[in-house]
Amino acid sequence: MREEIRGYREVREAAKDFETYSSDLQGDRDVRNYRQLPLEADPPRHTAFREAVQPLFMSDAISKHTAKFEALAQKLIDNAKAKGTIEVGKDIALPYVIGCLTIIYNRPQDYDEWLAWGPDVWTADGTGKRDGATLQSYLDRVFDHAESNVNRDLDTQDVWDFVSQIEIEGKPIARTEMQGIANVLLAGGRDTVIKLITGLIWHLIGNQADREFLNENHNWFNRTIGEMVRYLSPLPKMERVPPAQHGLSDEERDPQNYVLLNFVSANYDREIWPDAERLDIHRDRIPHLAFGFGRHSCMGMNITEHEAGAFLRVILANWPSWQFARDPEIEWAQDLDKDGNPIRYIDRFNSLEVSV
Ligand code: HEM
Repeated sequence: MREEIRGYREVREAAKDFETYSSDLQGDRDVRNYRQLPLEADPPRHTAFREAVQPLFMSDAISKHTAKFEALAQKLIDNAKAKGTIEVGKDIALPYVIGCLTIIYNRPQDYDEWLAWGPDVWTADGTGKRDGATLQSYLDRVFDHAESNVNRDLDTQDVWDFVSQIEIEGKPIARTEMQGIANVLLAGGRDTVIKLITGLIWHLIGNQADREFLNENHNWFNRTIGEMVRYLSPLPKMERVPPAQHGLSDEERDPQNYVLLNFVSANYDREIWPDAERLDIHRDRIPHLAFGFGRHSCMGMNITEHEAGAFLRVILANWPSWQFARDPEIEWAQDLDKDGNPIRYIDRFNSLEVSV
């Protein structure tokens, strides 16, 4: 069993303390052999990469796409109405999140390809087995193209033009570093936001009062999104390298000795939220740790809020009278809080079939 840091204060402290709990590690060891950036680096390397990609995540860079997000949400909801019965994950959440990413990254031509990968880029080949080949062949193709057709025009650039031209300390970054950045851009905001959108629909179907309240109070959207993200904790744990393994290469280290920051245990800490297992959009606002904390805190929070906010605006303005077509199939996960008490939270929505 790997050591886990549990509890709200404990996880916050450990997430801040990057000198003790290092992020300089290779994750997804079965499907890739380069580091995700800026995620899998410590300062000062982390700081340089985080600053370099920051322009992609600024609130202004995202908010200008709101009308397109709303149009996409409307189209998907209209399609669902026409179909009668739909699967929320496959028919709404996945195409919505993929569509928003193609808009933000200016890659409309990739919509069908990214959609075909499904919710997780590592199971994109459709066999259910984890495999990095599909993503790798995509990355080879787009970066070959970006490097041989250099586009410096900020108005027409797409995300891969931008990433392929990043320089750190005046030097162009390496291809593996481009891939590392592309990885978090494609994977970071995919299954996490899909789970969030699915969770919002699941909650709203069963809660007319919350629907009506939110439709009247759009200023409550971010609190609602925050509470849903706390409750779902879509990225439940992250690895860190403890001091005894610092200074060793990836090959010399045993990942079994890594420490896990347990974000779920922080978000279900009963000292902070005595009724943590209840989803309550009206509860007092306490910063949760679902987006992490400290240097590595999620860069995609603005994207998440704008995407989910646009979706809520559209669906609440003209609620499609959805009912569960059959009982939702939810896979629950068990964990422990810092005192060893059990935590029960939603691991995944296996099926959420709704009909008008
Ligand atoms: C509900 C949605 C999301 C959740 C719950 C989430 C969760 C997290 C968490 C917990 C971390 C910190 C990891 C650590 O400390 O090791 C993180 C980092 C990150 N996330 Fe998100 N994320 C979400 C959406 C997104 C989106 C939409 C994007 C971009 C498309 C994104 C991009 C990133 C990046 C680039 C980092 C690395 C930051 C760094 O290392 O400095 N995330 N995310």
